[in-house]
Amino acid sequence: MTPTRRDIFKTVIAAVPASWTAFSTALAAATPGDEAYWRMVQRQFPLEDRLIYLNAANICPASRPVMDRHIEYLRDFHANPSFQNRDKYVEMRESLRGKAARMLRVDADEIAVTRNTSEGSNIVVKGIDLKPGDEVIITDHNHPSNNDSWKVRAKRDGFIVKSVPTPIPARGADELIGGIERTITARTRVIAITHLTSTTGILYPAREIAALAKRRGIWMHLDGAQTFGGLDVDLSAIGCDSYSTSAHKWLMGPLEAGLLYVRASRIPEVWPSIVTAGWTENLKGARKLEVLGQRDDPRVVALEASLDFINLIGMANVEARMRALATRAKTGLAAISNVELKTNMQPELCGGVVKFKLRNMATKRAYDVLWERHRMATSATPSGDSEGIRFSPHIYNTFEQIDRAVGAVKELAG
Ligand SMILES: Cc1ncc(COP(=O)(O)O)c(C=O)c1O
Repeated sequence: MTPTRRDIFKTVIAAVPASWTAFSTALAAATPGDEAYWRMVQRQFPLEDRLIYLNAANICPASRPVMDRHIEYLRDFHANPSFQNRDKYVEMRESLRGKAARMLRVDADEIAVTRNTSEGSNIVVKGIDLKPGDEVIITDHNHPSNNDSWKVRAKRDGFIVKSVPTPIPARGADELIGGIERTITARTRVIAITHLTSTTGILYPAREIAALAKRRGIWMHLDGAQTFGGLDVDLSAIGCDSYSTSAHKWLMGPLEAGLLYVRASRIPEVWPSIVTAGWTENLKGARKLEVLGQRDDPRVVALEASLDFINLIGMANVEARMRALATRAKTGLAAISNVELKTNMQPELCGGVVKFKLRNMATKRAYDVLWERHRMATSATPSGDSEGIRFSPHIYNTFEQIDRAVGAVKELAG
């Protein structure tokens, strides 16, 4: 049946909730880059007034426009779950794929829509052929999804996993590259590293490590949980073979939505983890890796909305603002005598994750005081080489909040 004008109008309204028009109008009227502009961006987020939320590396809030689009489509889906109404989600997923590919500078056929970084990385971990005697290089600061996942599979299939220690802070890119390079042997099949570590915020020189891997025909997997949405990630420049990320971190999107990039020439080497209705040999490119049974289509729409939200501001502007906030925090913290800063200052070695340790107070105690006395939501590693408190600010934070957080630490440092 041909859609009526009323159907089309309903679709348009669903696609553009009022918060989108309000936000884009306000953006157009504001001066990019000034504090009033960023205050207006901050107002798009439904965070509690008193809360100083500094935990983007764990979960970012979604903005109102993103939530509104999610809710609109959730309503649409449940108001009419017919095949006919749900047909449009196929096209919408392709639209998301195209936008994600453009942002990451790769081809749409190289993008799979997953549920999170863990799933994306595990698709690679489980999907590549590896045999006894083969070697996989990881680092000791990889997240379990790109660390224990390799070890579990190695136990089953008899290959070797070599873990390279991560220096804190890194003396320079050469030290990070050298650690990996020295571990490569003729048997190395995979190098699996983290683009930006969640532990101490080191930005790995992914491009140089990918070049090392490429020269030797080694698969290079990059965990991008802490980069896409915070940093302007150019995968064609980096040249890795795969990259996984989540929507609920720096992209400020929905929970349980993510993306996996696999280089076109490598896709035939990956066995799909899940084969169910909808899977065929003929699925094009990375689509053969994302089949899951019935999808939560409105959530996938919300992921596209999170890219739209960032694109309205501009990825480069988002990165510059996020970096300015993180730099303000690091500069303030580094000036406190009882604070040991574990994150690098050089822009090429850091991103939005800031880690520090108070020399005069147990980390868990400092974490509790920041929450109980100041309502500052941070994250803490209670022991080990990355012990400390983590601040991870994003565009919904202000310089004033950063200064208050640094001031609270100063008070604890005595
Ligand atoms: C570096 C890194 N990789 C992977 C993950 C896992 O992300 P998710 O739980 O969204 O799969 C995290 C989560 O904090 C992370 O920091």
